[in-house]
Amino acid sequence: MCGIIAYLGTRPAKEVLLAGLAKLEYRGYDSAGLCFSDKNGLLSFKAVGPVKNLVKTIEGNDKYSLGIAHTRWATHGEPSEINAHPHFDCQHKIAIVHNGIIENHNALKEMLIKEGHKFVSATDSEVIAHLIEKFDEGNLESAFIKAINLLQGSFAVVAIQAGSRRLLATRRSSPLIIGVGKEEFFIASDVPAVLAYTNQVIYLQDNDFVSIDDSGYKIKTLAGKEIKRELEGVQMNLEEIEKGGFKHFMLKEIMEQPITLAQTIAGRVVNDKIKISLQIIPGSFDRIVMAACGTSWHSALIGKYLIEEIAGVRVEVDYASEFRYRQPLISSRDIFLAISQSGETADTLAALREAKAGGAQTAALVNIVGSTLAREVDSGIYLHAGPEIGVASTKAFSSQIAGLLIFALYLRQLSGASLDKGLLMELKNLPKAVEAVLAGADKIASLAQQFKKTNNFLFLGRGLNFPVALEGALKLKEISYIHAEGYPAAEIKHGPIALIDEDMPVLFIATKNLLSDKILSNMAEVKARQGKIIAVVDRDFQDIAALADHLLVVPSVHPLLAPIINNIPLQLLAYYIADARGLDVDRPRNLAKSVTVE
Ligand code: G6P
Repeated sequence: MCGIIAYLGTRPAKEVLLAGLAKLEYRGYDSAGLCFSDKNGLLSFKAVGPVKNLVKTIEGNDKYSLGIAHTRWATHGEPSEINAHPHFDCQHKIAIVHNGIIENHNALKEMLIKEGHKFVSATDSEVIAHLIEKFDEGNLESAFIKAINLLQGSFAVVAIQAGSRRLLATRRSSPLIIGVGKEEFFIASDVPAVLAYTNQVIYLQDNDFVSIDDSGYKIKTLAGKEIKRELEGVQMNLEEIEKGGFKHFMLKEIMEQPITLAQTIAGRVVNDKIKISLQIIPGSFDRIVMAACGTSWHSALIGKYLIEEIAGVRVEVDYASEFRYRQPLISSRDIFLAISQSGETADTLAALREAKAGGAQTAALVNIVGSTLAREVDSGIYLHAGPEIGVASTKAFSSQIAGLLIFALYLRQLSGASLDKGLLMELKNLPKAVEAVLAGADKIASLAQQFKKTNNFLFLGRGLNFPVALEGALKLKEISYIHAEGYPAAEIKHGPIALIDEDMPVLFIATKNLLSDKILSNMAEVKARQGKIIAVVDRDFQDIAALADHLLVVPSVHPLLAPIINNIPLQLLAYYIADARGLDVDRPRNLAKSVTVE
């Protein structure tokens, strides 16, 4: 994610940049840095950890009135001073800050190294500074545009050059705004960073190129054509804006899923092959053992279905808190895969250490770059889902399932078997299907009004939809405090069916798969006992309409992708019910985002 702020004006840049970074910390806080510029050159400061660590490193330096700054949420390269932004060219004359992922950075870096460029960081971002240097023949603007035109992926970039009072910036799929004050200009990832100084902002569009000097700003296309963008007066208060206009972080994070899933998948399906950096030797394992907690444990359950079906490898799934104490039988022929959003959950870390002691090869599926889990495993897959602030996990869960699917396909590829091209294509198109589900949020919000006073809820699914039922129940109970249970639909006959009467809402996840007919019978059993049925169905399976009181229709996708799609209406339902009950959705009682005690 990362946050960017840049300033050109009459105040001390230090004050503006540090205050701006503090407002952008929700976008990442594993390291921060800034760079001032005046006629004598560039002066930079960097620190690992939150912005307050950077503040401590900068004494004085109030004379500068131009600078760029960045707070980082690491994707490529661990959190360290070297990897912190700004990044520089070889001669330390050009400084850049970047938010996003440069997908073709490996190829660009290889080309630049052959041409004699020396890189110091492990980031994808550093190539931008070197590309500008490569094209610089005395005209910074033209060098900047040439460099940007070579980039693939998502980016918001601001660049400065020693001795020049100018800010250059552009964006593609990453946000960037200009703040316009009296004789001063700001560039930032988000409005809160500038709101203390001006409420006059321009929301830049993809491929806009901006050049700012003391006389004003010019916006052009990357092809050089001048364009006008509206200067808007911002009305919102700071807190609202940090949530991007959403009432809660949880809703923002649910709505972000098309982007975060695209980030998880980006660069990992290339020419019908899986490209990930796991270091697993073909034939070196017999079994995958997964351990995790909470929502991540539900992902692991889905992973078991995916890996066994796609790769034909045996999988066992444990709660990390159970695994660590039950003296599990682990050997060097096992791959232990830990799944965690934070990478800091105490039980998951302890399970990992247990597996290591047993001689297993270790890997992790983790969101936070540089977390303890990421550092302790042999190799891993980052989710790239961006910081998740709402305590109830949403976007990390979808990215975990996507990551597990990629892992399952990778294991199949390792065995030499061919991959299903149709599935790969649908995986790449998944963000579009997610957008279609999110477009139905209003319908779910009004359904939530009907169920906000209920005391109990049952979630039922079969096959891959069973763990989705577990996750749906967890989401509802943790933020709405309604008692909810998830069950395999066929199992209700062995107990839960006794609970069913006209006051018991039962949510079936009933999209088309091999068990579709069977779930129809389970639904009939509930209907016969006056249960209220809500059914998540895809367009191929509308005959369920006769049995259900409420239908939540989702797009038809490959059955192995259905858990991601089917979970989204459940996230929205939990969110809207909790909000309708007037609860603090982002900070549910008794819970924490990262559970670092056992
Ligand atoms: C806490 C969070 C959950 C999360 C679980 C595991 O309980 O509230 O949302 O699923 O920890 O966390 P992890 O970071 O390991 O995925």
